[in-house]
Amino acid sequence: MRQEEIVRSFQTAGQGHVFAFWSELDTDERAALVAQAAEIDLDEVARLYRSLVAEKASPVSAAGQLEPAPYEPLPEKGGDAAKWQRARAKGEEALRAGRVAAFTVAGGQGTRLGYDGPKGTFAVTPVKHKPLFQVFAEKILAAGRRHGRPLHWFIMTSHANHAPTEAFFAEHNFFGLEKARVHFFRQGRMPAVDFNGKILLETKGTIALSPDGHGGSLRALHRSGALDLMAREGIDTLSYFQVDNPLVRCIDPEFIGFHLLERSEMSSKTIPKAYPEEKVGLFCRQNGKLIVAEYSDVPMELQREKSADGALRFSAGSIAIHLIDRDFARRMAAGGEGVALPFHRADKKITTIDAAGNSVKPGKPNGVKFELFVFDALPFARSPLVIETRRADDFSPVKNAEGVDSPQTCRDDQLRQFARWLNAAGAHVAVDGTGLPQVKLEISPLFGDDAESVAASWRRLAPRPPIQENLYLE
Ligand code: UD1
Repeated sequence: MRQEEIVRSFQTAGQGHVFAFWSELDTDERAALVAQAAEIDLDEVARLYRSLVAEKASPVSAAGQLEPAPYEPLPEKGGDAAKWQRARAKGEEALRAGRVAAFTVAGGQGTRLGYDGPKGTFAVTPVKHKPLFQVFAEKILAAGRRHGRPLHWFIMTSHANHAPTEAFFAEHNFFGLEKARVHFFRQGRMPAVDFNGKILLETKGTIALSPDGHGGSLRALHRSGALDLMAREGIDTLSYFQVDNPLVRCIDPEFIGFHLLERSEMSSKTIPKAYPEEKVGLFCRQNGKLIVAEYSDVPMELQREKSADGALRFSAGSIAIHLIDRDFARRMAAGGEGVALPFHRADKKITTIDAAGNSVKPGKPNGVKFELFVFDALPFARSPLVIETRRADDFSPVKNAEGVDSPQTCRDDQLRQFARWLNAAGAHVAVDGTGLPQVKLEISPLFGDDAESVAASWRRLAPRPPIQENLYLE
């Protein structure tokens, strides 16, 4: 479309104010504004405003009654140990065959943490202060070495953090990974609107656009050519995790094995919720389909409901770890009749301008952002599957600057894990009642990334270093 046509389409849609400062913009600024405008699907924005803002439809509660979802329990919780073993063997076979790639969604804005820069560059480990990206890189490297097949790693960024993310990896030599196997691509964007449905301007010449949610990853995987690359390389399974969780087993053979044995198109890990108000999504069944109901969408009475035995009735928390089949991602990206992720609404404080063009930083939410969530793909998947995992081995995210899910709690959880592994290997690490060691220590994923591999490396060590402050095992 030519400039005038785009401007006219905005006027027709009641969004002509986007060009209110046109006469003050120079040629380049005008071109940039029009390019942003061209990204926007005006019908989609109008539809989303109508349903999610004007009519306040909640995609979850409106759709029918929620039941707790079934899942595969851990062996120590009554699960079938032989099945877990078969799964592990199957997963290892797939890894040896190079069928799996790692996938990190790192396009979020990380506002809660208040850290300036891509969240993956945030330093998290207790001794070496390694950034999140390095922790993942070393786990991926370790998995590649263990199975004799280096893995590809896809990283989804946003427009805002793409260049700094790429630069960070280049500066650090890709943390030992082969550059050709690390692939960055940008996710899409959506405009923010005010409570009357008007698209917000960020400045006189820019629209308030923000990332379209981690659910945008499915279309971005397709658009960027990542799915084609996977097909060429013989990769059919993506191991999806969030950028905020350094405990995650990026590549987990048991999980992969379950997913492949059940011929699932999308699988997820669950942990029992720590307390009813914990801010994690909940695996539920609705109309016979597996879904994740976001914490904000599930009525608090339901989240507090107990079964006869006193346990939480809805306890299967989602920790945002999934396996996604390549062809399923392609099908979801293509969309078509009845196949589309729903958008969710989030009310936010959005920096904008007033009628005179002066910048306004609102003190309370002044508008709405629209986001897609990847777990909304679950009900579309064939044989979706949920397995249980141990919180201490898979989940301790960094979300807030202080308090729960903060750098402090995450560091402590890493320390507990390192101490647990070392003690299981026969070392003597003194710990307190919560398992927290009395000295600060750190284990590189290249030394070991689970109890078994740490024990093997520890046994080989001669002489063994004393357990003391700042011990680092590599
Ligand atoms: C998320 C999940 C929640 C889960 C919890 C576990 C949602 C809506 N909720 O909550 O169910 O229990 O994690 O930690 O996802 N991201 C993008 N692009 C975006 C938005 C986010 O790549 O446009 C990425 C972020 O970089 C991050 C991840 O998605 O890696 C999670 O985003 P965030 O918004 O922090 O989710 P939570 O609300 O913490």
